[in-house]
Amino acid sequence: MSILQMRIFGDPILTTKAQTVTTFDADLARLTDDMFDTMYAAPGVGLAAPQVGVSKRLFTFDDGETSGVLANADITWHSEEKQLGEEGCLSLPGLYLPVERSMQVRVTAQTLDGEEAHLEGEGLLARIFQHEIDHTNGILFIDRLTPEYRREAMKALREVELGLRAAPAPKPTQAL
Ligand code: NI
Repeated sequence: MSILQMRIFGDPILTTKAQTVTTFDADLARLTDDMFDTMYAAPGVGLAAPQVGVSKRLFTFDDGETSGVLANADITWHSEEKQLGEEGCLSLPGLYLPVERSMQVRVTAQTLDGEEAHLEGEGLLARIFQHEIDHTNGILFIDRLTPEYRREAMKALREVELGLRAAPAPKPTQAL
């Protein structure tokens, strides 16, 4: 069990579509253990493998009620109803902006044993599923912002990069 190094915005692995998980073995279980350690240490409520430098379609999650790990997850249905809420990302430290997501989603995925799994998420869990599945497709939450918030995000990222502002402390319940 160990804490893995977090890849930060600018690392090309974060904008690359990850590889399908095809081998469900002890190495995958070990990676998952390390991802849980890394997610809880951050702290965060979700973590995708590309965020720790592994280009695999795999993520861990824990919304406080439900926790788990999913491989090769796809959204098969999303509600028309939306939710607007502040979202952050462990790979974009200090950046929290409102993102519109579907209120409910259904997901088809595989467990660590390679068994097919069907899950439904609502509210925060639905937000986590959408955020992490985006990660496995090389999409970041800043790609989901309105143009106005996206400008704000890019300005903040530039300022952090230039050292004009320090990255604020993480908000534990909202970083994914
Ligand atoms: Ni993220």
